[in-house]
Amino acid sequence: MTEKTTPWELIEKLRSTGELSKEEFTRLIKNRDLVDREKLYALAREIQKEHFGNKVYLRGLIEFTNYCRNDCLYCGIRRSNKNTDRYRLTKEQILETCESGYKLDYRTFVLQGGEDMSYSADDIADLVRSIKERFPECAITLSVGEREREDYQKWFDAGADRYLLRHETANEEHYGKLHPSELSLKHRKDCLKNLKDIGYQIGAGFMVESPFQTAEDLAEDMVYLKELNPHMVGIGPFIPHHDTPFKDFKAGSLELTLFMLSLLRIMLPDVLLPATTALGTIDPKGRELGILAGANVVMPNLSPGDVRGKYLLYDNKICTGDEAAACKRCMDRRLERIGYFTEVSRGDSPRVHRAEAEQ
Ligand code: SAM
Ligand code: FES
Repeated sequence: MTEKTTPWELIEKLRSTGELSKEEFTRLIKNRDLVDREKLYALAREIQKEHFGNKVYLRGLIEFTNYCRNDCLYCGIRRSNKNTDRYRLTKEQILETCESGYKLDYRTFVLQGGEDMSYSADDIADLVRSIKERFPECAITLSVGEREREDYQKWFDAGADRYLLRHETANEEHYGKLHPSELSLKHRKDCLKNLKDIGYQIGAGFMVESPFQTAEDLAEDMVYLKELNPHMVGIGPFIPHHDTPFKDFKAGSLELTLFMLSLLRIMLPDVLLPATTALGTIDPKGRELGILAGANVVMPNLSPGDVRGKYLLYDNKICTGDEAAACKRCMDRRLERIGYFTEVSRGDSPRVHRAEAEQ
């Protein structure tokens, strides 16, 4: 590839070969002002529609604990934030939340929380089993951070289908600037590998414009994701939280987040790609714009009303005052206005259906 290659030629190469080198991604990201955005989003949408039509997959997010043993520098619920009003949901509360979600047509429950070791591996396995017993046609996604391989296996055996663990950044040095020294990129990547080997549908991802992030770092994220080939990629802008060491950094932009969403759709055509709450927080139309740039998943909040305002990873998070039913109606309307509709099914990765068909 010569220096003369235009950014659009790089995008065409990504489309036709499914990959670019780190240097090519870096050049593309640095020169993104030269890319016709409408043309880029249209290409990403064309691929999105090829795989998913006008359907947007719905996941109900249950934020069941905001206790965390970790101290990630960007995160509002990090352990050293003494101003966080901590809570944990009981098994009964979680089951009730699933029940109300089920009535609203949710068929995937995402159980997310800080790394709260007061839930033992057996507690989580028991929770997964109970949800599956009551709602056998629903998928369960876990997102509870870095744990032992045996724990991941136990939860998978209990019926968990998917696991979300953003890698956060694929560059070692950058990882070190976002996390305390006891956390390592290597361990995070090992967890992702274990999850994939066990048989989970996995989700990785990163924040856009997290402090100290460079175009080279983003390029490394893309190269890593190509290699990992996860079923899902969660990306959203970094947003500062006033009680963290990163309180004075600025939030990631809509512009770069949409650009990265489109590149991901082009690189991994059938990937599940959420338009995140963080994207909806930095712009009132952020999630719709995310869908129009290639995303195909939304994850409205299902957490009970009294704890919603307590799972604050960043400032000004949207939907903290709404009830689950209102959130669902709001999302349905928003999607309808842009020509999409929410799908009532588990919404597995197309790769899972292909693998089943081949058996
Ligand atoms: N503990 C689990 C883990 O580490 O994967 C799940 C919970 S963690 C809070 C979920 C994600 O929130 C992280 O992977 C991170 O990318 C995102 N996040 C945390 N703080 C954020 C911030 N200030 N702005 C945007 N996203 C943030
Ligand atoms: Fe653990 Fe954010 S530091 S969830």
